[in-house]
Amino acid sequence: MKSREKFGSRLGFILVSAGCAVGLGNVWKFPYMTGRYGGAAFIVIYLIFLILMGWPIMVCEFSVGRGSQKSCATSFKVLEPKGTKWHHYGWFGMAGNYLLMMFYTMVAGWMMYYCFRCAKGDFSSSSVDAQVIVNRFNEMLSSPGILTFWMILTVLLAFGVCSFGVQKGVERITKIMMTALLALIVVLAVHSVRLPGAIEGVKFYLIPDFQKMKEAGIGNVIFGAMSQAFFTLSLGIGAMAIFGSYLDKNRSLAGEAASIGILDTFVALMAGMIIIPACFSFGIEPDAGPSLIFITLPQIFNQMTGGRIWGTLFFLFLSFAALSTVIAVFENIISFAIDLFGISRSRAVLINIVLVSLLSMPAVLGFNVLSGIQPLGAGTGIMDLEDFLVSNNLLPLGSLVYLMFCTQKRGWGWENFIKEANAGNGKKFPLFVRGYMTYGIPALIVVIYLKGYWDMFAPQAAAANNPLLLAGWMCVAIAFLALIGWFAFGGKRKDS
Ligand code: TRP
Repeated sequence: MKSREKFGSRLGFILVSAGCAVGLGNVWKFPYMTGRYGGAAFIVIYLIFLILMGWPIMVCEFSVGRGSQKSCATSFKVLEPKGTKWHHYGWFGMAGNYLLMMFYTMVAGWMMYYCFRCAKGDFSSSSVDAQVIVNRFNEMLSSPGILTFWMILTVLLAFGVCSFGVQKGVERITKIMMTALLALIVVLAVHSVRLPGAIEGVKFYLIPDFQKMKEAGIGNVIFGAMSQAFFTLSLGIGAMAIFGSYLDKNRSLAGEAASIGILDTFVALMAGMIIIPACFSFGIEPDAGPSLIFITLPQIFNQMTGGRIWGTLFFLFLSFAALSTVIAVFENIISFAIDLFGISRSRAVLINIVLVSLLSMPAVLGFNVLSGIQPLGAGTGIMDLEDFLVSNNLLPLGSLVYLMFCTQKRGWGWENFIKEANAGNGKKFPLFVRGYMTYGIPALIVVIYLKGYWDMFAPQAAAANNPLLLAGWMCVAIAFLALIGWFAFGGKRKDS
């Protein structure tokens, strides 16, 4: 059998993993959440989650990947004790990667579309005012043609890169994109904080205001911060584990995971540092939510001297962030097919170009033809449902699976996990956190997960005066938890 392909260099591994982590979560979700949830106060909580939960779970994922030499489709099967049920999670991990791409490719397409339109000068002519910019965004969303075109372009570009293989495709191109991205960030942030009046924005960003956080509801803020920590680090569905499987045993994993987390956090913080001071400088509130990037910012670029260039560079930066993530997740998707069916890479690419394009259509149509479908309540769309399933369910629960798999005797077990994580030179994983990882983090995940459902559906149930609505959703949440429990504790372990 052909041996598994490996990364060409350590830097390649770090940049590809960081490319997977750095994406729309950093440049789109993080700034708007920060703007909405009270600036620095939110950032503090987010950082705590990154360190106390994100980092150990990332080490778990990398260890499972490197230990099994497989993608999440078959990694549990390889490592689990005979007779246990962990391998069923492989299907959910795969589903998670597809579900994520079902809306991510479309939003990545928005970024490229905006880059293109900025470069054309569509957001910097004198006839463009604030209302025109709002209309443009709505026109884009209501046109299935535009959305589909840019979504398919994203799919083709990213699978095209993957078709060249791990070293010659994914590693080579991601290295170039990530270097360009880091350079762009510095240029854009320096420009932004030097705008007149931007200092107020920097203060909002750096000085915690717990009052504002209280207004947004502390429960929402904490749940938001936890979900965002999982999302931004790409945890829970094996998306990172795969890069562990392309890694040799020269370096221990704790230090590598820390470098990736630091790079990811740097990009998120700098994206905020680009956006929020610019808002303050032009007297616009940064709390617009998801439309911050597509309406608030173009309005700012429209008024800024050199706005055409700055706008283009900004959306170029966002496009690189999004594309490097799409490439990384497509690498997962290709690897599932290879691990499960033993087909060739080029075949896997061709099949998945068609599959992912088709699967991305519901999210596209959800903004126009199917806008009547509002699965999570008034004003929500198909994309919100997909995002909810991934971000609020698969990621926290999947992280729970990885964590239990690495700490429970019925799983791969602490000893095997530590041996794999610590193989090679570099920082060793701290052993004293064993109890915390075995009991502490799982308890935290479960509590915050259930509270997230509660906070999301209790207001809707109250508004509709229908307590059954809330009860129903809480049953869904508990059913998912029970399923995870069955993967972990079901079956009889047969010791050989
Ligand atoms: N981390 C990416 C971002 O911030 C999104 C992402 C990629 C992801 N792969 C993932 C999120 C796997 C969860 C799981 O945009």
